[in-house]
Amino acid sequence: MKFYSDITSLIGNTPLVQINTLTKQHGIKAKVFAKMESLNPGYSVKDRIGTSMIEYAEKEGTLKPDGTIIEATSGNTGIGLAITAAAKGYKCIFVLTDKVSMEKNRYLKALGADVVVCPAAAKAGTPDHYVETAKRIHRETPNSFYPDQYSHPANPLAHYRTTGPELWNDTDGKITHFVSGIGTGGTISGTGRYLKEKNPNIQIIGADPYGSIFKTYKETGSVPEATPYLVEGIGQSCPTENANMKVIDQIINVTDRDSFELARQLGRVEGIFCGGSTGTNFFAALEVAKDLDEDGLVVFIVCDTGEHYLTKFHSDEWMKEKLLLEPQRITAGLIAETKNNNSPQDLIFAEPNETVREALAKMNEYSVTQIPVLDDGKSVGALKESLVLTKLLEDKSLLDANVSEVMVESFPVLDVDASFEEIKQKLHERPAVLIEEFNRIKSIITRSDVLDIQR
Ligand SMILES: Cc1ncc(COP(=O)(O)O)c(C=O)c1O
Repeated sequence: MKFYSDITSLIGNTPLVQINTLTKQHGIKAKVFAKMESLNPGYSVKDRIGTSMIEYAEKEGTLKPDGTIIEATSGNTGIGLAITAAAKGYKCIFVLTDKVSMEKNRYLKALGADVVVCPAAAKAGTPDHYVETAKRIHRETPNSFYPDQYSHPANPLAHYRTTGPELWNDTDGKITHFVSGIGTGGTISGTGRYLKEKNPNIQIIGADPYGSIFKTYKETGSVPEATPYLVEGIGQSCPTENANMKVIDQIINVTDRDSFELARQLGRVEGIFCGGSTGTNFFAALEVAKDLDEDGLVVFIVCDTGEHYLTKFHSDEWMKEKLLLEPQRITAGLIAETKNNNSPQDLIFAEPNETVREALAKMNEYSVTQIPVLDDGKSVGALKESLVLTKLLEDKSLLDANVSEVMVESFPVLDVDASFEEIKQKLHERPAVLIEEFNRIKSIITRSDVLDIQR
């Protein structure tokens, strides 16, 4: 029989996958590999520390039978802890910020944990901050264990004992650069320490979101004011005990836009479906690899799966709302789906052989001043309220005439894949464009629908 004694036996020994097309596109000669931590049973690099912190605490006696594990987490450490806790029969309470995706929140609950959410805007050290909240719940909960991934020695130790040796062995000792984000600092510090012991020339590179303090802290020793960013799980507003700056050679700042764009490209072009912090790491890996020759071997961490972010940066609608979507992806179809003004979501239209009276009543009901005239899904004309009313002043009997008698030329028709530029061009000439999908009119875009995109 071939089987694993429990789910935690599947943690670690993740494979390296070579990046091919995207490195070629950037003219990179060095080899670049993704370390697929998203293939752990909880789909992130944090499964490793979930097990190691729990086992450490069991040995130490800080976690006892029937104990409750309480932790402040951006989600993935919670998932890692919850998996091991479920397998070993412990309860869990996790404290998240409201920046953490709903997918991770529900995932934790699905693993049997209780979840408390705190405002991401709360300042470090204040009672509403998620770390302070976790500490308070720990104080108030009997027989509880608070791992504190930010300072727990079993966090970097897990990477020193497993991630580091895996990278050294799987590259036959040829790795020249290791790139990782810094959240608690456990991954980069533990893996980096192991690799430096093997070969001090291996460069350890931190990938840090703009807004986080680590780059300035590493370079100057001072802690700047942190500013908000959207990538989850990495960066900090204050240094952490587990982020060992001595092991890190260089820190590269990355924007949200570049992180999300590269994470999305990894999915589209390489088939590697990943979270935003992986995009941060990959951006830094490409920066480093650009200056290397064929002997360069860069490994970056794929921190977690893209499934945690399907309602966030893996959604075009969310990216558009945050003004982060690449211009070429702002298509007519996307604008139509996500228009957020007061216009009705369903297309309001008239038919050529309904009466003008009926059509006007419809326009009145939905407070629209112009509607397309459609015949079996095709656009055959348009009705403009002001023009119809002018004609009615001359001849009131037109109220009972067919729409086809008073309609004007159809609005221009564009395909759902038409670009933002094409839409704008048409909207210079006419107040609205119609959007067609598989030969049927699906939606209308007016000038006001595109205004919020141009902010
Ligand atoms: C998505 C994601 N990426 C990266 C990291 C960073 O790892 P570390 O805490 O080991 O620095 C985390 C940590 O929470 C994370 O959740």
